[in-house]
Amino acid sequence: MGAVSDATPQTVTAPGAIVHRADSPDAPWWRDAVIYQIYPRSWADSDGDGIGDLPGITARLPYLRDLGVEAVWLSPFYVSPMRDAGYDVTDYRTVDPCFGTLDDADRLVDTAHDLGLKVLVDLVPNHTSTEHEWFRAALAAGPGSPERDRYIFRDGTGSGGEDPPNNWPSVFGGPGWTRVTEQDGTAGQWYLHIFDVSQPDLNWHHPEVREEFHDILRFWCDRGVDGFRVDVAHGLIKRDGLPDWHGAVGLYDEIDEEGPLGVGRDVEDLWSPDSDVLPHGATGEAPMWDQDGVHEIYRGWRKVLDSYGEPDRILCAEAWVKPVQRVARYVRGDEMHQAFNFDFLDAHWDARQLRTVIEASLRSNDVVGAPTTWVLSNHDVIRHASRLGLDQSRPRPNGIRADDPQPDAVLGLRRARAATALMLALPGGAYLYQGEELGLPEHTTMPDEYRQDPTFHRTKGQVTGRDGCRVPMPWVKDAPSLGFGPGGSPWLPQPEAYADLAVDQQEGVDGSTLELYRALLHYRRTHRIGHGSLTWDALSSDTVIALRNTPEGRGLTLVAVTNLGAEPVRLPVGEVVISSGPLADDGTLPSDTTAWVRLPVT
Ligand code: NOJ
Ligand code: MG
Repeated sequence: MGAVSDATPQTVTAPGAIVHRADSPDAPWWRDAVIYQIYPRSWADSDGDGIGDLPGITARLPYLRDLGVEAVWLSPFYVSPMRDAGYDVTDYRTVDPCFGTLDDADRLVDTAHDLGLKVLVDLVPNHTSTEHEWFRAALAAGPGSPERDRYIFRDGTGSGGEDPPNNWPSVFGGPGWTRVTEQDGTAGQWYLHIFDVSQPDLNWHHPEVREEFHDILRFWCDRGVDGFRVDVAHGLIKRDGLPDWHGAVGLYDEIDEEGPLGVGRDVEDLWSPDSDVLPHGATGEAPMWDQDGVHEIYRGWRKVLDSYGEPDRILCAEAWVKPVQRVARYVRGDEMHQAFNFDFLDAHWDARQLRTVIEASLRSNDVVGAPTTWVLSNHDVIRHASRLGLDQSRPRPNGIRADDPQPDAVLGLRRARAATALMLALPGGAYLYQGEELGLPEHTTMPDEYRQDPTFHRTKGQVTGRDGCRVPMPWVKDAPSLGFGPGGSPWLPQPEAYADLAVDQQEGVDGSTLELYRALLHYRRTHRIGHGSLTWDALSSDTVIALRNTPEGRGLTLVAVTNLGAEPVRLPVGEVVISSGPLADDGTLPSDTTAWVRLPVT
């Protein structure tokens, strides 16, 4: 990590002192839930067309019950031209035929409930597809019409309006504005699309937009879903006047050369009880992200969800917002329930950095009374089994190609298992991404002709993009498409390494990654680890993370020790209940390994 300070981390709370207090044992389900993300295109294909679908998911749900998660989150399955894999929605109330029907969605939700699993669906409010009926109407109705006002249309600059209204780029590369041809054939206004050209941004100052999304929330709640993951939750409101912006807009690669936290930052830099202070470099500086106006939208949504009573239906923000006290604003008592913790995902394999993120996240969320979530992988970033096998002094790339430096697969998996064991020892909720329980690596040698991520195409191949983490699941080693479906050719090719990692190769196999996840999840659930308090153990150092988790009223303290250094670590006296890899013969904890030790009752 280059310039990270050698000094013992003094700003992290001293060992033994409370960092985070335990939740009450009867806290609502979502405060400690482990939620499994299904990317519907790539989980299970029932009809052999090479694309995963809802009946495929329903048939495989018992696997998730056995894994031991509380809920699933499904990435979008709505009608879409699939220019951004379904994050470009044409109709928010129907299922795309490639995934099935609305009846299939109902069956999925019912089956999940029968198995004791809750279901979150994805809500995409920042933009629609250009094929959405509102956008078609906007094009037809022309400049100045109420139809155009539901999106962000502006006249161009320059003498003939030939230049875009401002300099904003698209997150996926290229300009953030596209000029339309008016009905009379003349070059016309421009519309804003922070993402792909096929994803026009909605105007959230428009009352109809607000009403429509309240209605969509009700539509899915009435069908029984338990909550929503909210796409680009920090993007809905843009700064008045849409001023030029010269900073970065990226979300899916780590822009900061110094790592997500900046070199040498400590807890106090990341966390302050005064959440109105906007520190330098905070996301709210960029006119398209994290504007204060987004919060009243979520207050309105919370009321809709609360009107359904118990058990709570929840909202989880996808907000790439820094620093953590800005994230906490999304989970104030009358806003969302959860927000993804991308600082945790972005932290490098560095004890001081991880400990700082953990403490800052817990402390900032405690101020607003919200639980923290933890996440290591999703459909937008390099899978952590590969990411942690990359040079940790460099920013996280957006995709890996065959001619890029390749991750160290053995080291990456070893660290990934240790990182997951650390994550699942923490209080709060956690999100898992499909296939991480198998230790799946990123597909790092996928031929370019398969790539679908708009990032790859909009940057003319300069940025590889996210296809490598979206490859179909391997279920059965000796089956067509590794058991993904009856057809032989899945929409993205599976790398060779996936065969030996298939579910049937790991089930019941001692030491497999799947059995490690099951053991961690089972222990966590049985002992309510997600509701526990947190203190640092004195074993913590510049290369060791050692935390104590004590759930309320269970007569138990768990010490989770992660060794990120080169030297073996002597574990505290107690019962080693799980470890992410074998301990040394003398009982010490080798590098890149996490052990859970149950302390004797004193
Ligand atoms: C976030 C989603 O996770 C990502 O996959 C998508 O491309 C963008 N939002 C745009 O909707
Ligand atoms: Mg299919």
